Amino acid sequence: MTNLLAAKTAVVTGASSGIGRSVARTFAENGADVVVADVREDPREDGRPTRELIESETDASAAYVECDVSNVDDFEAVIDEADRFGGVDVLVNNAGIFRSEEFLEVTPDGYDRLMEVNVKGPFFGSQLAARRMIENDGGSIINVSSIAGLVGNGGYVTYCVSKGALRLLTYALAHRLGPEGIRVNAIHPGGVETAMMEDAHMGPEALDQFVQAIPSRRIGEPDDIAGAALFLASDLAGYVNGESLVVDGGYTYTG
Ligand SMILES: NC(=O)c1ccc[n+]([C@@H]2O[C@H](COP(=O)([O-])OP(=O)(O)OC[C@H]3O[C@@H](n4cnc5c(N)ncnc54)[C@H](O)[C@@H]3O)[C@@H](O)[C@H]2O)c1
Repeated sequence: MTNLLAAKTAVVTGASSGIGRSVARTFAENGADVVVADVREDPREDGRPTRELIESETDASAAYVECDVSNVDDFEAVIDEADRFGGVDVLVNNAGIFRSEEFLEVTPDGYDRLMEVNVKGPFFGSQLAARRMIENDGGSIINVSSIAGLVGNGGYVTYCVSKGALRLLTYALAHRLGPEGIRVNAIHPGGVETAMMEDAHMGPEALDQFVQAIPSRRIGEPDDIAGAALFLASDLAGYVNGESLVVDGGYTYTG
């Protein structure tokens, strides 16, 4: 492990499970104190809460704050918690929900809920974090979008809309916040083995077809995304701003 994030404080939303959990652990292993912000403390998959994992396996400190990212007051409490560790330097807007759906049957309420979590959460979370980062001489914001934010799919239209919006939020914020010393980038994961992927209910045949279409011939692991997030959070990416980093084993731009 490195000290790439020594003396940094990171807020990772949705860090109780899956990709966010791996990002939080990786950041802690590389020197950052971490605030886990999630609606639940136990991982959707099995295992100990992320805060416990970090405190027992790394030298970093960690806190858990119960937070629905679509609730601005909840998010404010998370940013306040980060002040205990010195103030937020890195925000990873990772919390998200996925829904397969028949477009002709999407309801306004279903649409609103998905957009609230996947877009409104990162929008106001970034606003709250940016106010602190400006006081603290800058920072890094990372939005976890998806390849569904690059390519449309009729089987989950609302999700595509939300992840496309997150991509443009990234570019617009890079433009607004770059002069303040804040870098804003997006990660676009392909399929990653988490509880969310199970929500997609892919049968074994569809899964096999999917893997065959991925040049790297495997589904992603949460750690694949955490490595990209570590790079974007660190000074190694000091001149990377307003960028979309696609981490999909080569799926989107080939074939
Ligand atoms: N798994 C994939 O194949 C994949 C692919 C592309 C993008 N993504 C994106 O990566 C991110 C993480 O996905 P994952 O696969 O780890 O999902 P996951 O379902 O395994 O974990 C998501 C975590 O977010 C939390 N969460 C959900 N709603 C929340 C809310 N309103 N407020 C706070 N926390 C909330 C959940 O409790 C959970 O701990 C999501 O934004 C997802 O859209 C995932």
